[in-house]
Amino acid sequence: MNYKKLAAAALEAKKLSYSPYSNFCVGAALLTKGGKIFTGCNIESAAYSPTNCAERTALFKAVSEGEREFTAIAVAGAPKNGEPQYCYPCGVCRQMLGEFFDADCEVIVVKTEDDFKVHSFGEILPYGFGASNLM
Ligand code: THU
Repeated sequence: MNYKKLAAAALEAKKLSYSPYSNFCVGAALLTKGGKIFTGCNIESAAYSPTNCAERTALFKAVSEGEREFTAIAVAGAPKNGEPQYCYPCGVCRQMLGEFFDADCEVIVVKTEDDFKVHSFGEILPYGFGASNLM
């Protein structure tokens, strides 16, 4: 898996962030099992709570186009005029990713194209609540 390519796609998606209220820009790049990349950015609302995170934008784009199997997501987030940082997916995004991600899917937390951390999804959402609980 080409982490650098996915990291670059997340950084590129971050440039499209619509975040006039928080000034915190996030981009995500989601890799399907078939090798397609879907990107997303955070999109904020003046009413605040309708705001959508970058990870869910990418996921909703992909699922609404028929994709349900993924191998990785890269996330890049930082304040608009601030230093790059490792920005981890929020709890709501972890829950939503868990709908489609296996524990061994990869989560790449991107500071720069050459500086990122790689985690398994199971590491960042252990003991999650999921479909199996409803059986
Ligand atoms: N945000 C994301 O897009 N992804 C995350 O995982 C964390 C938070 C966005 C939501 C909001 O637009 C801004 O970052 C500040 O919370």
